Amino acid sequence: MLPHRDPATQPEGVVAGYAQTASRWPAEPLVRRPQTRTELGAPQPRRRLAPARGDLAGHGAKRAAGQLIHLRARVVEEDGAPVAGALVEVWHCNAAGKYIHPNDTNDAPADPHFYGAARLVAGDSGLVELRTIKPGAYPVPDTRGWWRPPHIHFSVWGRVWLSRLVTQMFFPGEPLNETDYILNAIRDPAARSRSLARLMPTERGPANALVYECSSRASSPRARTTSPCSKAARRRASRSR
Ligand SMILES: [Fe+2]
Repeated sequence: MLPHRDPATQPEGVVAGYAQTASRWPAEPLVRRPQTRTELGAPQPRRRLAPARGDLAGHGAKRAAGQLIHLRARVVEEDGAPVAGALVEVWHCNAAGKYIHPNDTNDAPADPHFYGAARLVAGDSGLVELRTIKPGAYPVPDTRGWWRPPHIHFSVWGRVWLSRLVTQMFFPGEPLNETDYILNAIRDPAARSRSLARLMPTERGPANALVYECSSRASSPRARTTSPCSKAARRRASRSR
């Protein structure tokens, strides 16, 4: 059985006020199972998927509405070493708080010039860069007034498919950060602050865009040869071998 997740760096599995977490989080305690050679030696993500849409903001008459931002995100190992070739997928809503997704019921206008998703591959320094617009806030359906603060979703793959981190990046100084159930599921304030991007000095970036920097810290399968899963999942895996 895995030790209790460190609340300094990991959110609780079931978050009060966030009803979906009760059904998404495993009912049984997590355990570690050894990863197989096939899992550790699987094809690298970057060889299967090419980068796409490093610019979500557009230009001229086809420029998306909203504050233009230039995002620099760095993927690093737990020890801070860059993860070159990491596959980074990014998605967020438009400036009015509307996703391009049929499940989004928010009564906010779509933006015909905003696509909303990008796929990037980290360079040798682990860096990916994205030109986009700052997303808006939006209300969460079927809740008592919960509004998500502006945020950007990230899915980060490391050197193999099993090494994946799904997380969110938040913006500093947003009042809704204080009441967001997802951000505040990270109890430790210092760890929570690491989910916030840093606004960089404006003179360092493009003249017409605010520059934000953030980092994603992913554990390496080279250093960790077991993966967490529930007891039920482990039984299913052992039966299929
Ligand atoms: Fe979101």
